[in-house]
Amino acid sequence: MPTALVIGGSRFIGRHAVTEFRDAGYDVAVFNRGRHENPFAEDDAVSHVEGDRKDRTDLRTAQLSVDPDVVVDMVAYQPADVEVAVDVFADVDAYVYVSSGSAYGAETIPKREDETALEPCSAEQATDDSYASYGARKAEGDRVVSSAAEDGVNAMSLRPPVVYGPHDYTERMDYWLGRVLEHDRVVVPGDGTNLWHRAYVEDVASALRVVAEEGAPGEAYNAGDRRLVTLGEMVEVIADAAGTDVEVVTAGARELAAGDLALGDFPLYREYPHVLDTGKLHALGWESTPVEEAMARTVEEHRESDRDGREEGPDREAEERVLGVLDTF
Ligand SMILES: NC(=O)c1ccc[n+]([C@@H]2O[C@H](COP(=O)([O-])OP(=O)(O)OC[C@H]3O[C@@H](n4cnc5c(N)ncnc54)[C@H](OP(=O)(O)O)[C@@H]3O)[C@@H](O)[C@H]2O)c1
Repeated sequence: MPTALVIGGSRFIGRHAVTEFRDAGYDVAVFNRGRHENPFAEDDAVSHVEGDRKDRTDLRTAQLSVDPDVVVDMVAYQPADVEVAVDVFADVDAYVYVSSGSAYGAETIPKREDETALEPCSAEQATDDSYASYGARKAEGDRVVSSAAEDGVNAMSLRPPVVYGPHDYTERMDYWLGRVLEHDRVVVPGDGTNLWHRAYVEDVASALRVVAEEGAPGEAYNAGDRRLVTLGEMVEVIADAAGTDVEVVTAGARELAAGDLALGDFPLYREYPHVLDTGKLHALGWESTPVEEAMARTVEEHRESDRDGREEGPDREAEERVLGVLDTF
């Protein structure tokens, strides 16, 4: 039986990756520091290796004890993390680095792996940990993967855009789920056609396995929902999945000002479209879950969770002021 080592693996995307590899017949080892509860503690098919990925010795110990065929790297946020990993795991069949759609440095539609420029990364950014340098650091990790492949390492990258689905601790989607479940009228910023590609988390997990098994060394692969929905459509898809009706009320910058709100105060709003071409991953045989089905599973888990996403967007009182102004027109 092949063995997969998932660096990270206990929280969101990593948790689904563990399930994906386990269900595909792999022995799976989760590597983390043990600060977050391990959801696989009772699962005989999943072992746990405690360590800090920032500590090379810990990674080396994991390499020796697990002897993985595949390594999935969920928590590489700085290029140096990837440099150490491609060295320690230089002999595995596949090392897959979880990069990001934020690695792209040009606003083309769509963004393509082998055409669209990546963010440059300065030495200062490479060791930073602020959100401002996130895309640059992820891009530099991609370049580390590509040069490791030139040296013979079977290293690959996956670039998902915003990921949503069960156990999403970022709560960005929970904000919208909460709005739809709790209110009849939902304020959507702009004219509702804002487009920010998203990826359903189980599809990201299956993409990691497909890339590990079928990907070519040095290549990067975008992952994202096959059918994109605008922000306004997303609210309607959530309502359908939840079996409820909502009225989508669009509000531009002027209307939002009535509640002291700005377009960018809403989660998953992006002024310019962010669309990733996923053809390269599809060519490896990867499939994405229909968005209605993905949202139904997302709604179901949200209802069972204690996440409400309220902190991620405007408070309802401010929105009510916007709705009040719109009603007077
Ligand atoms: N969410 C998105 O929308 C999105 C989009 C694109 C790309 N990504 C990428 O996806 C990855 C994040 O995935 P996730 O958070 O969902 O993964 P995950 O595998 O579920 O997550 C994090 C786990 O990693 C462990 N961890 C954190 N720091 C560690 C360290 N220094 N050493 C060992 N283990 C460590 C934590 O456990 P302990 O605290 O117990 O160590 C935590 O439970 C990132 O690389 C991110 O850039 C995310």
